[in-house]
Amino acid sequence: MATVSANTTAVLITGASSGIGLALAQHYLAKGVAVIACGRNAQALQAITGATPLAFDITDSTQVQAAATKLKQLLHDNHWQLQQVILNAGSCEYIDDALHFDSALFARVIDTNVVAMGYCLEHFLPLLSRGAQLGLMSSSATYLPFPRAEAYGSSKAAIGYLGRSLRVDLAQHGIGVSVICPGFVKTPLTAKNDFAMPMQITAQQAAQAIYNGMQRQRREIHFPTKFTWLLKLASLLPEKLLVFLLAPK
Ligand SMILES: NC(=O)c1ccc[n+]([C@@H]2O[C@H](COP(=O)([O-])OP(=O)(O)OC[C@H]3O[C@@H](n4cnc5c(N)ncnc54)[C@H](OP(=O)(O)O)[C@@H]3O)[C@@H](O)[C@H]2O)c1
Repeated sequence: MATVSANTTAVLITGASSGIGLALAQHYLAKGVAVIACGRNAQALQAITGATPLAFDITDSTQVQAAATKLKQLLHDNHWQLQQVILNAGSCEYIDDALHFDSALFARVIDTNVVAMGYCLEHFLPLLSRGAQLGLMSSSATYLPFPRAEAYGSSKAAIGYLGRSLRVDLAQHGIGVSVICPGFVKTPLTAKNDFAMPMQITAQQAAQAIYNGMQRQRREIHFPTKFTWLLKLASLLPEKLLVFLLAPK
């Protein structure tokens, strides 16, 4: 059973100090599930009433390892079973001038969104038992080759493949994997965007969709579906037409 329920089961959420992760933490807490809320901003984590804060930087493997040691003790002391892990933390930066490609920016985004996910997998996966569900935060941006998204889109596409491949290997251990692909969600991350964000939803709506998808052990959790199905359909267009439609004019 991947479903989380009150009292005995716990969920670990990275990036719980803000945006989608914060709304997710609050959603699980409202369901009576123990939440281990992770992020760098310890103050923001402590402000989540009812959650157990665990502050660390996911890009620092030593910090992730220390967090996993604390987590193991927490699970033991509280008789919690870690039934779900949602690796949601991430960042977004855009390549403004592809001709003068910013490789430092590219490395930064890949490091936070992909390499750091590897650290979390290394140290948290051994704490999951049979029947657990792992959620990896990708993005519906991966459905189409959006302008300026070379770094962000590549990192999220990598997570999509990572999730599919992990699903194959973890099946024998009874651990399911959900790849999460939201459309636009109103958070501090998207507040920085300087372009139109059609069909944007709230972080609370996103949390509800992710919670439902995780409970149902969906392989791909994508929402809002009107928006994501439109992107999926558009991805079937010939590449030449896509370039014409998406290229900055
Ligand atoms: N908003 C959208 O429309 C949208 C759409 C598709 C996918 N996503 C993805 O959803 C996830 C959450 O995004 P959001 O919109 O909720 O953004 P957000 O409000 O900026 O939250 C990002 C979270 O990631 C954490 N984080 C970032 N770098 C970290 C690091 N090095 N170590 C530990 N934690 C780190 C931040 O925590 P601290 O600052 O405390 O470290 C924060 O809690 C991201 O992976 C994003 O790519 C968002």
